[in-house]
Amino acid sequence: MKRISLTRYLVEQQRLAGHIPPELRLMLEVVARACKRISQAVNKGALGDVMGSANSENVQGEMQKKLDIIANEVLIEANEWGGHLAAMASEEMEGIYVVPNRYPQGEYLLMFDPLDGSSNIDVNVSIGTIFSVLVKPEGVGVSEQDFLQAGARQVAAGYCVYGPQTTLVLTVGDGVVVFTLDREQGSFVLTEEHLRVPEDPKEFAINMSNQRHWAAPVQQYINECLQGKDGPRGKDFNMRWVGSMVADVHRILTRGGVFMYPWDKREPEKAGKLRLLYEANPMSWLIEQAGGVSTNGQQRIMDIVPTKLHERVSVFMGSKNEVDRVTRYHSEA
Ligand code: AHG
Ligand code: MN
Ligand code: MN
Repeated sequence: MKRISLTRYLVEQQRLAGHIPPELRLMLEVVARACKRISQAVNKGALGDVMGSANSENVQGEMQKKLDIIANEVLIEANEWGGHLAAMASEEMEGIYVVPNRYPQGEYLLMFDPLDGSSNIDVNVSIGTIFSVLVKPEGVGVSEQDFLQAGARQVAAGYCVYGPQTTLVLTVGDGVVVFTLDREQGSFVLTEEHLRVPEDPKEFAINMSNQRHWAAPVQQYINECLQGKDGPRGKDFNMRWVGSMVADVHRILTRGGVFMYPWDKREPEKAGKLRLLYEANPMSWLIEQAGGVSTNGQQRIMDIVPTKLHERVSVFMGSKNEVDRVTRYHSEA
């Protein structure tokens, strides 16, 4: 594999396959540049006054960390003037952010979770940025309604993990590619192509402390894993839970497994904890593009037509056989 930069990779893809319009390519480069800046802020840590709480709440009633706000601003400032976007939506903003009149308007809609895994910032554990791109439907102006499209309509999706390495993982519908940030060069360099999620892994990721609140099909699936060699699965399982979706899903994309954040009884009116538009959809597309499966227990996540910007969803994603199994337990319940 050639160690080429993200820019060169996108240009070559555009030439070879012709399925990355130039505006989309330029926008992805801007998103990558913003991620580089966020990565720098993350790395500075206590030296950059980026740790700790901002003493404010976001629209979901969650306490904002300073880095949540910084990352959100970096993404907006980097993207608003480029001419590729009509509007943006973020976990940290209640409504959509329409590109101001003083800048040219484009045809794309960008959604992001600027900083995923906020609770890990202050303990120096991997965090990340998740993003998803849609095309604005025809018509004058742009509204929140324009964002309410099924994940199957995404034209690009990806995430950046700020961990021991900073890696950018991307799909434009032609497989999954991984770039690693070369800090000396200041550029993302292609380090993996054609990512595939192994089909029969022995690892699951779920917040076990919520066990007593889960629905029966999730209880059944996890109980069987826990019985290991002595149970119906006939093999031992391992468990990992970083608590940052980006890091947990990155591990699963790399070595297989299943990631779950199911509905639970604590807040029965909420479909789940994770957000459909800027967490579940982009991650689902990456998983599917790598040969995995992603459902909400009932249906493919990317087929859900959202009814609101910050809609939540139950999530089961990862290796095909495992996600098929836990989804089957739901239909049998
Ligand atoms: P965010 O930091 O963007 O609010 O997302 C946190 C999410 C997700 O990254 C992770 O999988 C999950 O919350 C962790 O939840 P628990 O606190 O229940 O472990
Ligand atoms: Mn998140
Ligand atoms: Mn977040």
